[in-house]
Amino acid sequence: MSDKAIVEIDGNKHELPLIKGTENEVAIDIKALRSSTGGAITIDPGYKNTGSCESAITFLDGEKGILRYRGYSIEELAEKASFLEVAYLLIFGELPTGEELDKFYTDIKSHAVVDEDVKKIIDAFPKAAHPMGVLSSLTSALTAFNPSTVDVRNNDEMYNAIVKILGKFPVLVAWTMRKKQGLPLIYGDDNLSYVENVLKMMFKSPNSEYEQNPVLIDALNKLLILHADHEQNCSASTVRITGSSHAGLFVSLSAGISALWGPLHGGANQAVLEMLEAIKEDGGDTKKYMAKAKDKEDPFRLMGFGHRVYKNFDPRARIIKKAADEVLGDLGIEDPILDVAKGLEKEALEDQYFVDRKLYPNVDFYSGIIYRAMGIPVEMFTVMFALGRLPGWIAQWREMRLRKEPIGRPRQLYVGETYRPFKSLSER
Ligand code: SDX
Repeated sequence: MSDKAIVEIDGNKHELPLIKGTENEVAIDIKALRSSTGGAITIDPGYKNTGSCESAITFLDGEKGILRYRGYSIEELAEKASFLEVAYLLIFGELPTGEELDKFYTDIKSHAVVDEDVKKIIDAFPKAAHPMGVLSSLTSALTAFNPSTVDVRNNDEMYNAIVKILGKFPVLVAWTMRKKQGLPLIYGDDNLSYVENVLKMMFKSPNSEYEQNPVLIDALNKLLILHADHEQNCSASTVRITGSSHAGLFVSLSAGISALWGPLHGGANQAVLEMLEAIKEDGGDTKKYMAKAKDKEDPFRLMGFGHRVYKNFDPRARIIKKAADEVLGDLGIEDPILDVAKGLEKEALEDQYFVDRKLYPNVDFYSGIIYRAMGIPVEMFTVMFALGRLPGWIAQWREMRLRKEPIGRPRQLYVGETYRPFKSLSER
């Protein structure tokens, strides 16, 4: 393969270097494009063909349906690892030894308490507030309680900021749910695992001990791992570009939470359940919704279907679909919504419109069925996505800062009015 690309403009040829990644992907390095062509830029709304960075964290192959964190397959990690092991792997690049993992969790637990004044902020929100808006605000507010800026080149400071947010975030997640439910805001227990603490803080009844259920522990561990990172998705790119101005880690994460909230991104898991409920209420009339999804005049999309990168099955959707069957079976739950989902999937995979556009179920299509079986309210589904994605966002932010990437500031192609003199009021 040659090591350069040629761009010809007005008969002038401009060479641009080609860069090859470790998985043999090829990128045209356009860093010198504007200077070498006298001002030409590229344009690519939604960055469908544009790489924002070189990254060593997550590899995915959309055509083959491959997803790996630091080289390890998502299938193996979901089956064999704990969420904290995966968090450590994503952030620091290697699976932790037993000693490293113990220290990591000990340090996280040492920060698993939030300032009591945070409760005043939570109390200021109406019960009807969407949990994603509350979580984004609380995450940003953490900066007020932890004002020291993080010198990313100082390993200790960076490490402390990381274990601090990993310790406090699950508390904010649980309290966001409990506030809506009018339940007391409680803490976990240092004798429990990370996932067990999330379950206890979310579900412990005020007047009885919380009995851990291994089915829920395993399901949540798997779901958090499957959501942990996904290279340069919308919210990770938001975290990166926010951090590129050297804004702090917590506020960069808060920006990522807001981006994730959108129904085209993480908010899709809530939209999927609402769509499946609507289809069920409509007598299971999947054909009507398929027609709506294909009607260009109708803004309705089949939520949980399609993906910017995966043009094959989202490997996470395969794992989650299997887990949904297992969890509902283990919990003895018959959920007709699962049958509606499977019926819709079968229909879409046989429909020419979806086949032509390579639209397959994505990570959000089945995840809500498990969250619902776990007793998590539908408005909390995207919050659970954020809890899983936290280590990925941290890893992406840290990599961007350690690589000393420049502030993100895209160019544009101006298509507005050319110069025109000011018109006084009487002339308008
Ligand atoms: C996540 O990027 C990531 O990695 C994200 C994520 C992660 O882990 O971070 O994987 C998590 O966000 C998963 C996606 C969740 N969103 C949804 O499920 C919402 C429904 N899906 C779509 O809105 C859409 O598929 C996107 C947003 C996911 C991807 O959109 P693209 O890549 O911009 O593709 P597109 O909108 O240009 O669609 C291409 C064609 C269009 O039709 P034509 O104009 O070619 O005729 O496919 C159609 C679209 O109309 N299409 C759909 C569809 N998705 C795409 N038509 C009906 N229903 C859909 N769901």
